[in-house]
Amino acid sequence: MVEFALPKNSKITTGKTWPKPSGSSNIRKFRIYRWTPDDGKNPRVDTYFLDMDTCGPMVLDALIKIKNEIDPTLSFRRSCREGICGSCAMNVDGINTLACIYGMDEIKGDVKIYPLPHMSVVRDLIPDLTHFYAQHASIMPWLETKTNSPAKEWKQTIEDRKKLDGLYECVMCACCSTSCPSYWWNSDRYLGPAALLHAYRWIIDSRDEATGERLDELEDPFKLYRCHTIMNCTNTCPKGLNPAEAISSIKKMMVERTL
Ligand code: SF4
Ligand code: SF4
Ligand code: FES
Repeated sequence: MVEFALPKNSKITTGKTWPKPSGSSNIRKFRIYRWTPDDGKNPRVDTYFLDMDTCGPMVLDALIKIKNEIDPTLSFRRSCREGICGSCAMNVDGINTLACIYGMDEIKGDVKIYPLPHMSVVRDLIPDLTHFYAQHASIMPWLETKTNSPAKEWKQTIEDRKKLDGLYECVMCACCSTSCPSYWWNSDRYLGPAALLHAYRWIIDSRDEATGERLDELEDPFKLYRCHTIMNCTNTCPKGLNPAEAISSIKKMMVERTL
């Protein structure tokens, strides 16, 4: 079951149903979460109808069409519309995904769109990612070196560079962390799959010279060990990455360095 972070003491109500477009035989229904922080009202689910003959194929195409042609107050994040910026992450049909690369042909029946689960909501489909980004910053997402910088560049063998494949592609969309039950209940102290995938990306970078410090930082009952290998993170990642495997690789390194 997917749960959503709601403003305190509130529940979702049925909102406005907008009129159907006339003269179309190819109409689709959209049920979209709405919440405005400053109107004192409960969140609601508004219903919209679109003529699919004049709409692009992706969920983001539908949201943009609704905003442009029906309801300009509908709020959501987007930028690249290519699955690169990570900003259009939301829960579509019960799945955390990127709206710009999720085709509506994959959805049966009404299209149900909510913000990412278990996050505070800024407005409508926009989650508050302040804490998520702070956790990312806490793992030192940069190359740490102690030796003098080379004249030209830090070199890496082709084999060592290949170890970063499946890690560097992360777009920090938060789909994985917000699908993780351990993160739902312990996000104040558990770093979650996205931050841990990034931690591993720097731990195994052959050019980095802070591996010991990085592992020391993660040696904590909450930061790392709240992962119970439930695998929601890997199953939902819209970029096809495997945060659960990265986390288990860090745990393995923790064990190996004590032998
Ligand atoms: S594998 Fe770990 S990080 Fe991924 S969903 Fe499960 S508990 Fe969360
Ligand atoms: S691992 Fe995947 S789901 Fe998680 S933040 Fe990165 S791209 Fe998004
Ligand atoms: S708009 Fe950039 S990932 Fe969807």
